Amino acid sequence: MDRYVITGKQRLEGRVVTGGAKNASLPLMAAAILAEGKTVLTGVPRLTDIFNMAEVMKTLGCKADFRNNELVLDTSSLTENTFDQELMRRMRASNLVLGPMLAKYGQVNLPSPGGCAIGTRPMDQHIKGLKELGVKIKVKHGYLEAKVDKKLMGAEIYLDIPSVGATENIMMAAVLAEGTTVLHNAAREPEIVDLQNLLNKMGAKVRGAGTHVIRIDGVKKLQSAEHTVIPDRIEAGTHMLAAVMTQGDILVENVVPEHVSPIIAKLRQGGATITTNGDSVRVQHKGKFKAVDLKTLAYPGFPTDMQPQFLALLTMAEGTSIVTETIFENRFQHVPELTRMGAKIRVEGRAAIVCGVPTLEGAFVQATDLRAGAALFLAALAAEEGTVLERVDYIDRGYENLEEKYRALGAKLQRVVKQA
Ligand code: EPZ
Repeated sequence: MDRYVITGKQRLEGRVVTGGAKNASLPLMAAAILAEGKTVLTGVPRLTDIFNMAEVMKTLGCKADFRNNELVLDTSSLTENTFDQELMRRMRASNLVLGPMLAKYGQVNLPSPGGCAIGTRPMDQHIKGLKELGVKIKVKHGYLEAKVDKKLMGAEIYLDIPSVGATENIMMAAVLAEGTTVLHNAAREPEIVDLQNLLNKMGAKVRGAGTHVIRIDGVKKLQSAEHTVIPDRIEAGTHMLAAVMTQGDILVENVVPEHVSPIIAKLRQGGATITTNGDSVRVQHKGKFKAVDLKTLAYPGFPTDMQPQFLALLTMAEGTSIVTETIFENRFQHVPELTRMGAKIRVEGRAAIVCGVPTLEGAFVQATDLRAGAALFLAALAAEEGTVLERVDYIDRGYENLEEKYRALGAKLQRVVKQA
């Protein structure tokens, strides 16, 4: 497991180009299962999660050719219906093959992906929606056995939670169903809109993504298509925070400003200077950042995937902040590590009370999950002295070429490859 050795107090300035969205790429890859032939995705980030998803697709008989940031998925030889248990457990998003496989083959036995560091991550909403479409589902021995006797039938579905994954799985199952599906309380994330756009390029009839009601008129067949992935709003937000935490000046390019509007609003509330121009966002900051309260919510609320990084910023704010995590039940694992760096944080249930300190101290810290790793990376850039950050493999799941991007901004860091 590699580690970063990071010199603190480096003011970052310059420009950084955001890659394609990990959380759009993963459902788009699964959607390729629905169409015959070669689906070409461009702007796909080279991340561990993407490589894992490509491996999952390959175990299903799909060919995956990934060159630079272009991924060609050839499903003409898709036959297998066997899954590699270990592979499926490695990444929650592997469950996104459920909807497409049901639409295409009418049955699938999926190892349940299980939980991860940030929560148990059940699939009850996925199951609820698929059952309404006529799927019979049994969960036993750690497997989810799903089967359709005849055809998937369109239905009126109400989600109890605007679950991103459940919305995506239901959309991908419904596009080849008989009749119309109306999905209420759907997730509204930009990644859902990106999925709708690819499905419609394939010949599907999906409307309403980005709102709470998505309407899908089933069709007979889908054709493979080409699609460019939207920019990664969480990577962009992470870079925006780096500018504020290092008193720097960073131009973040390849951003959809609307997708990062909750992050812009919070940064402005704390005193940062933000200017948007087309597909770039410039972030400048000098002096103390004022404490702000933060509550994570489904889009367009403040994104849970930016909570750890923003909490790291608040550890050095002027005043006390309350950070409330409403999406995941265990997403404060970065707190003990930030405390080792001198942060003053008290966690009470879903809330963390953060008393700002003048600065953080370098320390030995460890990433526990992807976004906790990103939070500690930012904290190390801002802290006094040096920091050793263990388990960089978590960060590799969601950030491409991080060292190169940050060295270009003036960071002093190196990656120590630890022999296995
Ligand atoms: C997606 O996960 C993202 N991953 C997550 O990003 C993100 O944090 C999350 O959405 C919320 O925005 C991908 O898109 C690959 P959910 P997903 O279903 O779809 C509960 C990152 O760092 N829930 O919207 O799994 C669930 O336990 C990752 O890039 C149920 O109770 O999230 C959670 O508490 C982390 N039953 C909440 O809803 C269900 O059937 C939101 O989950 C489904 C979900």
